[in-house]
Amino acid sequence: AGEMPARGLHVVITAGPTREPLDPVRYLSNHSSGKMGFALAAAAAELGARVSLISGPVNLPTPAGVERTDVETARQMHEASRRLATECDLFIGCAAVADYRAATAAEHKIKKREGEEGLTLKLVKNPDIIADIARLRDSAGGRPLVVGFAAETRELEAYARDKLERKRLDMIVANDVSTAGLGFGADDNAALLLWRDGEGEGGASLPPQPKSELARAVIERALGCLTSRPVH
Ligand code: C5P
Repeated sequence: AGEMPARGLHVVITAGPTREPLDPVRYLSNHSSGKMGFALAAAAAELGARVSLISGPVNLPTPAGVERTDVETARQMHEASRRLATECDLFIGCAAVADYRAATAAEHKIKKREGEEGLTLKLVKNPDIIADIARLRDSAGGRPLVVGFAAETRELEAYARDKLERKRLDMIVANDVSTAGLGFGADDNAALLLWRDGEGEGGASLPPQPKSELARAVIERALGCLTSRPVH
């Protein structure tokens, strides 16, 4: 029972880390657990949305009623996002996408070289997935609403506002990852929500709470932005 305010809406969410191969047995990645993205997917599904979850390699079960696409690299996540986001109402980028990948992944295992103290890797930039979806939205007449995340260790609000602007997001969920027990890998999180509300900039501070509760608050706020903004 209960209210289903997201019924009829399609929500696409990216979650987890990406994994960028160096050779057939090694990769570059990060410590993202995927918990926040999976909590968002569960919350959106509970509120009645159709949910597509695009996940990097994580150790989590798929929430009930969620369609999951597994990817490894940023480029695979980008491709899946472009495919799914064109028809959705709300796109949430919660993945910790690797900023760089190896310029070329070696075809065979990289061997340790005798007599050489170092090894230089050449990295190239990965696509900024959420900024790309926001650009698609601009050319497609206003859909989807695009929500991003910002994990910062200092100057939370300033960096988050800069990302909101630069990536042309509608809303950003900023969290301070320097606080012990919150953020990366943890079960709890706190956040500062910043969004464009048409007349100015809105904001709300969400206190430390389980990721499941925070996820519900984020989805509800995003639904609020969706219904309050002009129809294109
Ligand atoms: O710039 P930064 O990585 O801190 O921005 C975080 C936001 O951008 C998150 O919403 C993240 O999912 C998204 N992002 C992305 N593609 C990238 C880098 C970040 O979608 N290559």
